Amino acid sequence: MTHTEDRNAHFEALVEPIADWATDFDHLHPTYNANAPEIWDELRNGCPVAHSPRYGGTWLPVRHEDVTTIAYDTEHFSSEDVVVKRVKPTGESRPYGGAPPITSDPPFHHHARRVLLPAFAPQKIAAMEAETRAFCHGLIDQLGSADVIDAADQYAKHIPPAVMAHMLDLPLADGEIFRDFIHTALEGIAEDQQVREAGWQKLDTYLDRRLAERSANLGDDLLSFLLTTEMGGQRLQPEHVRGTVALLLIAGIDTTWSAIGSSLWHFAKTPTDLSRLGHEPELLSTAVEEMLRAYAPVTMARTVAQDVEIGGCPMKVGDWVLLPFPAANRDPAVFDRADEVLIDREVNRHAAFGLGIHRCVGSNLARMEVRIALEVFIERFPEFELANPAAVTWSVGQVRGPRSLPIRIRSRATARATT
Ligand code: HEM
Repeated sequence: MTHTEDRNAHFEALVEPIADWATDFDHLHPTYNANAPEIWDELRNGCPVAHSPRYGGTWLPVRHEDVTTIAYDTEHFSSEDVVVKRVKPTGESRPYGGAPPITSDPPFHHHARRVLLPAFAPQKIAAMEAETRAFCHGLIDQLGSADVIDAADQYAKHIPPAVMAHMLDLPLADGEIFRDFIHTALEGIAEDQQVREAGWQKLDTYLDRRLAERSANLGDDLLSFLLTTEMGGQRLQPEHVRGTVALLLIAGIDTTWSAIGSSLWHFAKTPTDLSRLGHEPELLSTAVEEMLRAYAPVTMARTVAQDVEIGGCPMKVGDWVLLPFPAANRDPAVFDRADEVLIDREVNRHAAFGLGIHRCVGSNLARMEVRIALEVFIERFPEFELANPAAVTWSVGQVRGPRSLPIRIRSRATARATT
């Protein structure tokens, strides 16, 4: 069995086979992320608010209009838990949730979000650019001289953990531990309960240790800031600090790693765009926005807090609702040539970073990372292509991006062939 077949077989064994995407979808089935744009197109043209009995009842709206309505409606929809799983939230932790501000509802959400904003202001992010660029070059230096490299596994997945480790002043070597948490929180949702509990236990132990160390030795980093800042004249509750740190480690890493991986996947399979970007580097900003639109990695979830009808569908208290921002980004009712990837698209009001009060706090940081990661990769490897399209594997669950991406570095392969 190849690595791809192996990985897909593992995830496939955790969920039931899919009977039909409109009435029995399961976003944790490996075929979902691998084929998501086609599935959304099919649904948009037939059943734009799909429903599945799985996870105790889950809705999947795919039109931009419906995704927007739900994202802005914090009265009928709660963010108490934003990851669909077998166990539903009870409503008891509202309006805080376990990972403020993403799991918080108004009015608490507003305050919890404001605490984070200064750390992600444009000038703070700009100050991290040189270090991020040097880190990307360092990763490429370590690739050796192989013709084929795994751009997801050897490059994309290392960049966001390094940036987060820098912001929180945690050891760079903890990157592997962060990726383990991401598996527990997102990809491993369908794993056995014991495996999941062991994962959460590990995260708890890690956070306890790091928070205690930092409390005793405060510095000029985001972790120290969260431990000492005040909200309404009081320090943040310990559970608030730990929930927010867990959120940053999870939401700040998998998302950006996926966006970088999808962008490299696009350029590896589209030589005309790769060559155009090489000759017209001024297109980098519109290209990054188009990568974020066309390959938006993040789908969040809500639970229905009050019965409501969306797109003619009766949503009942307690139902899960997936919010596929990536599907909204491909809705032809809102985007011209929605299914085409145009690296010079000028008007691009995409929803990759969400809509409404929970819009991504880390968007400046994410954009900087994707831009620098692409810029450095293309500078060092002006010509590359997919080494084996069938060997590309995709993540499973609500964050979508390549997890294995074998790429052939053309200049190296050519040089080797001529010597
Ligand atoms: C390409 C990378 C990223 C994408 C596509 C992305 C996408 C999103 C989306 C769609 C939301 C809205 C969630 C919702 O409506 O429930 C969100 C929220 C959030 N993101 Fe990101 N994100 C990215 C990177 C980051 C980074 C690097 C950080 C920070 C290190 C971050 C921190 C957050 C936080 C704190 C929230 C919660 C905001 C709130 O609830 O008010 N994200 N993100």
